[in-house]
Amino acid sequence: EQIKKGSYDHFMQKEIHEQPHSLKTTMRGRLKDGGVVLGGLKEYLKTIRRCRRVVFIGCGTSYNAALAARPFVEELTGIPVTMEVASDLLDRQGPIYREDTAVFVSQSGETADTLLALDYALENGALCVGITNTVGSTLSRKTHCGVHINAGCEIGVASTKAYTSQIVAMAMMALAIGSDQISTQARRDSIISGLNNLSSNVSEVLKLDAGMKELASSLIDSESLLVFGRGYNYATALEGALKVKEVALMHSEGMLAGEMKHGPLALVDENLPIIVIATRDACFSKQQSVIQQLLSRRGRLIVMCSRGDAAAVCPSGGSCRVIEVPQVADCLQPVINIIPLQLLAYHLTVLRGFDVDQPRNLAKSVTTQ
Ligand code: G6P
Repeated sequence: EQIKKGSYDHFMQKEIHEQPHSLKTTMRGRLKDGGVVLGGLKEYLKTIRRCRRVVFIGCGTSYNAALAARPFVEELTGIPVTMEVASDLLDRQGPIYREDTAVFVSQSGETADTLLALDYALENGALCVGITNTVGSTLSRKTHCGVHINAGCEIGVASTKAYTSQIVAMAMMALAIGSDQISTQARRDSIISGLNNLSSNVSEVLKLDAGMKELASSLIDSESLLVFGRGYNYATALEGALKVKEVALMHSEGMLAGEMKHGPLALVDENLPIIVIATRDACFSKQQSVIQQLLSRRGRLIVMCSRGDAAAVCPSGGSCRVIEVPQVADCLQPVINIIPLQLLAYHLTVLRGFDVDQPRNLAKSVTTQ
């Protein structure tokens, strides 16, 4: 086992640091001649373009990856996207139509709830697409078509490199579906150039490792941690909080910043640590005002911002800790932003003395309902 971990202490740590490479293998051979080629989808692109809506279905981290993809899938394809947690779709027997494209996201391709939702969507006549890391899995065999994310084997129970590769696979899927639209050509070109540089930006953000360890040591005794995000990074807030919850065994909630004034604001005091994701995108000024509101209530803030923006997010007088990350194309920013939070969850777990790779009560793949 130690041989497989190489120079790392834990699989989760190894998998976090592997991401510059795993993202390259996700994209390998697929970005060609200024466009995207996805062999497993090619024959179905026309049908997907004509569908009435895309329904994303998954559990846990895979659901969060789909949530991160939702804004750019809507933007690049013009197709409405709805989100379904697999178990909830089954509980409600929610409507799925023949005109729907149901996209199933699962690292293992064996999660029972996701597979049952797949059977349900197949019965209802939807086109079923699988996004998985496991060639030959039940998900990849039962869906009509799909994309393998090729992130390499993931061993740590908490998903890290599969999450970022899932987002990139879905970005490529959105680019392929939208490739017939002339009006978004320039936007697609800039996302493709962002994909080409993504791996080196991920290497950059991994240099925050020591800083995240230090931040973790300041949070070690906290009982709870909130993470506020919105827009492209709403999913980052949910996924960052999920990582902290599942491995560091600390209560943590990801929240939509736009909902802050409708309840969560009541929790704010000088003790509760709150991470606010405020990297540059169309929501930036709204996040600046969220930070102001939290500071005026003496909130204990940790702000994630684009490099060089420390003064813009935390004006003098405000006492907050700042995490500066490289700025990439706005829709790819969730790939960068999750990494400091993965590192934070990892270090919190080690410092709190818990099992990183086998968190209490959890399994890598939940194959029972
Ligand atoms: C379990 C794991 C999570 C994972 C989820 C979905 O709960 O502990 O890390 O995100 O299953 O797994 P999947 O293989 O479908 O992505």
